Amino acid sequence: MKERVLDGKTILVTGGAGFIGSRFIRLMLGRYPKLRIIILDALTYAGNLDILRDVGCDPRYEFIRGDIRDKKLVAGIFEHVQAVFHFAAETHVDRSIVDAGEFVLTDVFGSFILLEALRRAPHVEFFVHVSTDEVYGSRDEGFFKETDALNPSSPYAASKAGADRLAYAYHVTYGLPVVIVRPSNNYGSHQYPEKFIPLFVTNAMEGRSLPLYGKGLNVRDWLFVEDNCRGIELAARCGAFGEAYNIGANDEHRNIDVAKRIVKLLGKSKDLIKFVPDRLGHDRRYALNCRKLRALGWRTEVSFEAGLERTVQWYVENEDWWRKIKERSADFKSFYAAYYKDRK
Ligand code: NAD
Ligand code: DAU
Repeated sequence: MKERVLDGKTILVTGGAGFIGSRFIRLMLGRYPKLRIIILDALTYAGNLDILRDVGCDPRYEFIRGDIRDKKLVAGIFEHVQAVFHFAAETHVDRSIVDAGEFVLTDVFGSFILLEALRRAPHVEFFVHVSTDEVYGSRDEGFFKETDALNPSSPYAASKAGADRLAYAYHVTYGLPVVIVRPSNNYGSHQYPEKFIPLFVTNAMEGRSLPLYGKGLNVRDWLFVEDNCRGIELAARCGAFGEAYNIGANDEHRNIDVAKRIVKLLGKSKDLIKFVPDRLGHDRRYALNCRKLRALGWRTEVSFEAGLERTVQWYVENEDWWRKIKERSADFKSFYAAYYKDRK
């Protein structure tokens, strides 16, 4: 298959002020000198313009604060772009357990608005839909292939599964140029400190306890964010329309072991680790078979050992970045207060 060309194009990146979207923009600007990027991001609690600070004031990107559910705004933007990378979503599983509403509205309905805009914009050459490995649900052994049934278990994962299949349906029904990617757990710099690794790193730095769910035996496949972004870019260039591509590192670790590594890297005591009531419907293990993307030439470059060290170092060197979020964000505090109150 002929590779799709990215340089010289204008692309839309939804959710570009979030963790993965912002790292993707950084990669793309570094790789393609003639690329132009329009970022559409609502700047929800998880979005943060500070996250693009290290990208600088590059004239090749334009930031639009807006909602992917705003049909008119989205239609207007689609007139000016040749490709779309759709990252925007509500992403935190615990929040979806507390209140699933925004997940259905953003992840499913928001994706629907974008796909409808795609239907009306035949000049758009391709649309990359960023899904997740959580759509498959949990498995104790073996690895999920792209053709396996989806069996999501949290409201977040179910919303993502709805969007994933909607993107597929728009390809089948209307022949739209959709490529779907399903990455595993990402980690790296600039991740919002409600997610496991940045929460544990920053809590440990503050001398606060590390709330480990259940017995800490759940397993995640940790993928360094830059490896993921290279995978997404490759799927955009070489992936087949209507197909899904797993992106995983095959670097599986139990939560308890990750927590221990974090305290060790920071020179803190293991006593900071506190077992707390388990997450409701907690998936035990995610694991992906990634042969399909590897066949296109993708490989991870960063092992979990090296990536975790780099990540911890980044949080140590960028305290102002996460302290602003943790200390000044009323939302952060009120969410956790409500969550733990309900589970006592
Ligand atoms: P994030 O929570 O860090 O960022 C999400 C971004 O989307 C934020 O900037 C937010 O402001 C924006 N957003 C939310 N609702 C919006 C709306 N209605 N309109 C416009 N913008 C909106 O998320 P992330 O971790 O960077 O994840 C990005 C994508 O990758 C998501 O689709 C997520 O489901 C998927 N994913 C994430 C992981 C992971 O480990 N983080 C793994 C697999 C897949
Ligand atoms: O697998 C991909 C998914 O990874 C993405 O689609 C999601 O957007 C992303 O949030 C992530 O979901 P997880 O639920 O796996 O990630 P989280 O960081 O919330 O939790 C990772 C593991 O750590 C999980 O087993 C729950 C556990 N955990 C998490 C938190 C926040 C704890 O033990 N304590 C905690 O405080």
